[in-house]
Order: sequence, then C-alpha cells, then structure tokens
Amino acid sequence: MNLPFFSFFLFLVSFHFIIANGVCQFEQKKIFKLQMLQRKHQFGPKGCILPESRKEKGAIILEMKDRGYCSERKINWNRKLQKQLILDNLRVRLMQNRIRTKVSHGLGQSSEIQIPLASGINLETLNYIVTLGLGNQNMTVIIDTGSDLTWVQCDPCLSCYNQQGPVFNPSNSSSYKSLLCNSSACQNLQLTTGNTEACESSNPSSCNYAVNYGDGSYTDGELGVEHINFGGISVSNFVFGCGRNNKGLFGGVSGLMGLGRSNLSLISQTNTTFGGVFSYCLPTTENGASGSLVIGNESSVFKNLTPIAYTSMVSNPQLSNFYILNLTGIDVGGVALEDTSFGNGGVLIDSGTVITRLAPSVYNALKTEFLKQFSGYPFAPGLSILDTCFNLTGIEEVSIPTLSMHFEDNVDLNVDATGILYMVKDDTSQVCLALASLSDENDMAIIGNYQQRNQRVIYDAKQSKIGFAVEECSFI
Ligand SMILES: *[C@@H]1O[C@H](CO)[C@@H](O)[C@H](O)[C@H]1NC(C)=O
Ligand SMILES: *[C@@H]1O[C@H](CO)[C@@H](O)[C@H](O)[C@H]1NC(C)=O
Ligand SMILES: *[C@@H]1O[C@H](CO)[C@@H](O)[C@H](O)[C@H]1NC(C)=O
Ligand SMILES: *[C@@H]1O[C@H](CO)[C@@H](O)[C@H](O)[C@H]1NC(C)=O
Ligand SMILES: *[C@@H]1O[C@H](CO)[C@@H](O)[C@H](O)[C@H]1NC(C)=O
Ligand SMILES: *[C@@H]1O[C@H](CO)[C@@H](O)[C@H](O)[C@H]1NC(C)=O
Ligand SMILES: *[C@@H]1O[C@H](CO)[C@@H](O)[C@H](O)[C@H]1NC(C)=O
Ligand SMILES: *[C@@H]1O[C@H](CO)[C@@H](O)[C@H](O)[C@H]1NC(C)=O
Repeated sequence: MNLPFFSFFLFLVSFHFIIANGVCQFEQKKIFKLQMLQRKHQFGPKGCILPESRKEKGAIILEMKDRGYCSERKINWNRKLQKQLILDNLRVRLMQNRIRTKVSHGLGQSSEIQIPLASGINLETLNYIVTLGLGNQNMTVIIDTGSDLTWVQCDPCLSCYNQQGPVFNPSNSSSYKSLLCNSSACQNLQLTTGNTEACESSNPSSCNYAVNYGDGSYTDGELGVEHINFGGISVSNFVFGCGRNNKGLFGGVSGLMGLGRSNLSLISQTNTTFGGVFSYCLPTTENGASGSLVIGNESSVFKNLTPIAYTSMVSNPQLSNFYILNLTGIDVGGVALEDTSFGNGGVLIDSGTVITRLAPSVYNALKTEFLKQFSGYPFAPGLSILDTCFNLTGIEEVSIPTLSMHFEDNVDLNVDATGILYMVKDDTSQVCLALASLSDENDMAIIGNYQQRNQRVIYDAKQSKIGFAVEECSFI
C-alpha cells in the first residue's frame, strides 16, 4: 500500500462528552482538510487513455473514471458544480413522479400506463464511465443503477452526437444480430418499459426502443444482440440498444450501461456467468482518482478496510426496477436522530443521484444536530437544494461531525468525510452541508452517490441484499 497517500486520508477522530437530556454521549468529529474538496484544474488529456479492465478469480474488474476526465475543454468547476445541483434536483423530481405514478396505478395495470424507459435519469449527474467490449470494438459508457437498458450509438446514424472514438458499427461484426419483434427480449422491453410502439415502425420485423431523458436528451434505435467482453470474459447474446438517433448531454461517451434490477439490465442478462452480483467503489471526483466496478461475487478481490455488512433489500413489487433499503436511523457526530418515520417506507440507493435526499422531518433533525456540533462558522447563502452553507474563507481545516446511516440487520454506512460537505465555490467562501430535503414528507428518500464515495457497495440482486464496507477506491 502506498503509505503517504493513505495517511493523507486518515482523519483524527476526536471525542467530546456531551450531556443531552441527562444522557451522556460521545460526540465524534473528524478533522478535515478543505483542500480535499478542491478540484485540480486539469485539462483532460487529448486522446485520453480509456478506463481499463481485468479478470481476477471469477470476477471482472472495470476501472471507473470521472466523466470529466476525457473532456478536452477546460472545466469551469464552479459552474459545473452549481449546474450539477440544479440538474440533480430535476432528476429527483422526475424520479419521484415516476415512483408516484407506479405506486398509484398499482401493479395490475402497470402495462397500461406509459412509463418512459429510464425517465427521470438526468445524465449530467451520472459521473462515472467504464469501458465495455462490444463485439470486437471498445465502447466507453456511463454507468447507471437507475436504468436497465444498455445502449450505444450505432452506425449508420440518422443523427449522432459527437463521441470520442468510433461509433459502434454492427456491419463490422459477424456476431451482431438485430432482434425481431417476436423475440422474447422485445416482449420484455414492452412489458418492463412501456415501449408499446416497439413494433410499429416502417420495418415491422425490427424491435425499436426509445429512451427519453428528462433533460431533452434521447436515444432511439433497434434492439440487437452481440457478445460483450471485459477483461477476457465474453458473454454472448447480450441484448442492447443500437442507437441510430441520439441527442443530448452524453459528454463524448459511446452510450450507457444499465445496472438496474429488471431482467433487461446487464446484471440480469449476465447472471449465469457472474451470479447476478456487482459492486462499485465510487472515487471522489476531485483528484482524478479511479474507482472500480466489479462484476461477479468475488469479495476476495475487494480492498475493503472494514468487513462487509449486508442489509436486506425491501421488496416493493411496484418498484421492482429499483434497489430499495430499510433505513432505520441516522447518527450525526455519534448522536442518534429521533424521528419516528425511520423504517416506514424504504429508501432508494442510486448511483446517479448526487446528493442524498431525506424526508423534511428527518432532514431538519439532521440539520439541527449538525449545526449544534458544527458551530462558530459564518454562514453563507444556500444554493439550489443545499440550504446550510458556510463561508470558510481562510480556514484550512475544520472539525466536522461524523455521519452514519443505519440499515436493517445492524448495518452501518459510515459516510466518508469527503461526502459531508459540498464545495459550491472553489475558494471555500461557500461550502455547504451535502444533504438535502425532499419537498414532500411522503416522497421516497434517496441515498445519493456523494455519500457513497470511498465505500464498496455490493448489489446482490439474486439474494436481494446490499453490502457496505469502507474502501479507498482505486483500480490497481
Ligand atoms: C479493446 O481493449 C482491450 C483491453 O484494453 C485491448 O486489448 C484491445 O486491443 C482493444 N480493442 C480495440 C479494437 O481497440
Ligand atoms: C468498419 O467498417 C467500415 C466500413 O463499413 C470501415 O471503414 C472501418 O474501418 C471498419 N472498422 C473496423 C474497426 O474494422
Ligand atoms: C419470428 O418471426 C420470424 C419471421 O419473421 C420467424 O422466422 C421466426 O421463427 C419467429 N420466431 C419466433 C420465436 O416466433
Ligand atoms: C422479464 O420480465 C417480464 C416482465 O416482468 C416477464 O414477463 C418475463 O418473463 C421476464 N423474462 C425472464 C427471462 O425472466
Ligand atoms: C438468472 O439466471 C437464471 C438461471 O441461472 C434464470 O433462470 C433467470 O431467469 C435469470 N434471471 C433473470 C432476471 O434474468
Ligand atoms: C455473494 O457472496 C456473499 C459473501 O460471500 C454471500 O453471502 C452471498 O450469498 C453471495 N451471493 C450469491 C448470489 O452467491
Ligand atoms: C425496517 O426495519 C425495522 C426494524 O428491523 C422493521 O421494524 C420495519 O418493519 C422494517 N421496514 C420495512 C419497510 O421493511
Ligand atoms: C467570506 O469571508 C471573508 C473573510 O472572512 C470575507 O472577506 C468575504 O467577503 C466573505 N465572502 C462572502 C461571499 O461572504
């Protein structure tokens, strides 16, 4: 292990006795260097090196990089971070609409309502890319646990956005086959995604898909099958979208990898090879670090620093595409929040929502406790969804309360120190508590990717459980 680097991430944990309601408790804080939230203003290297992959034991390890990594433009981080918050709000609002529609229409009628495939996914908030082998070509795609269909731009394009590297060309691959309307995959597409017009095209035998993202981005084309391969393992007959008409904020990548729960998703389709299990470690995006997406249930390849603890997923037949957990409590600086709504509904865990959203009552209790323990700093105005901000100009180190979320089966997610504060302005004059309130008490809470960083998060779709362990993300 690289010790100097590692020790940079070590935090001093301090304990103070506090007496609350006559109960003696430990108050836990971490000393945190604000510079860890500052972005290096680097230009993405021209012709940047694609994320790599390798095989280890029965699993595939894909390197995961920040999407901005391959950008040729100089990134204005202040603008990017502020815009990300606004788009994150849009993503969550669309997701809540989708959830409400699904729940209120019930299971029996779900095939009658139009639920656009992957609606509510805001692309700008999807930060992480991996490289996927498709036939004999390498494609860089963004990963998303909130959607199911994997797709790439396909030649000949009716209309394609600019991407780095060549567009997938089915005619160069002898293993590519276009899927017909009477295939079971095409029927699945219609059933699970409401793409009811899949077979109403001018070419009646091909199966057409369409995805509209909430921000005006879209992809449509036909379903096809191809070998996928990564790190030397190949899986044949993988069903994906061959996108002929694509537009939007995809930032130069070839397409998207869907890691949702339905049987169209990559993880379901590869379940005989990889057991229906994947995991990721999302790196902080600030310093260009790599993380990893591991496909397969091979916990010996993880570099976790704490043992893996598994919590059961909450089953909700109406929301069967989502990964839902039972949040039973939250501690701020070791102090348990008191709220009776914990454990009632379930919270969604998502790789594409940035900031964790909590019910207004829970968020307010958290904010109150945080402010009690993080006191003496001048306030700064809020921005978008973040309402608790500080002007930390001239301050190098702060002592921040720890944040721990508890789930059923006695599982804790100890949020990394880099996931507690969000730097809105790079000069530290506006640094905010990196959590937000939902607009309605009945909306579904979401654990966002900012609070999942430097954790190994294991999705065991087969046994319906999610595991957590602390890890310093890396690829090597
Ligand atoms: C795809 O990536 C693999 C692994 O990095 C590499 O060995 C292979 O040559 C690449 N293929 C193409 C067509 O670029
Ligand atoms: C794919 O085919 C096109 C022509 O159809 C050709 O120009 C291109 O070089 C081929 N690419 C590869 C990687 O073979
Ligand atoms: C689907 O239709 C084609 C002809 O259009 C036919 O050859 C094929 O056998 C059909 N497949 C199934 C599963 O019905
Ligand atoms: C996939 O899901 C659909 C709808 O939920 C179901 O009808 C279909 O049988 C499933 N297919 C497989 C292969 O499990
Ligand atoms: C997972 O694989 C099993 C076979 O091992 C298969 O029966 C099942 O349909 C697959 N599940 C999904 C969701 O594709
Ligand atoms: C994955 O591994 C964990 C830990 O070894 C085990 O508890 C779990 O049952 C495995 N899941 C599957 C689907 O094999
Ligand atoms: C969540 O866990 C608590 C405590 O184990 C339990 O009482 C509650 O019924 C669970 N909620 C759901 C939705 O499963
Ligand atoms: C932040 O605080 C510094 C010094 O404490 C002050 O000079 C500056 O004007 C403040 N910035 C904002 C945006 O309030």
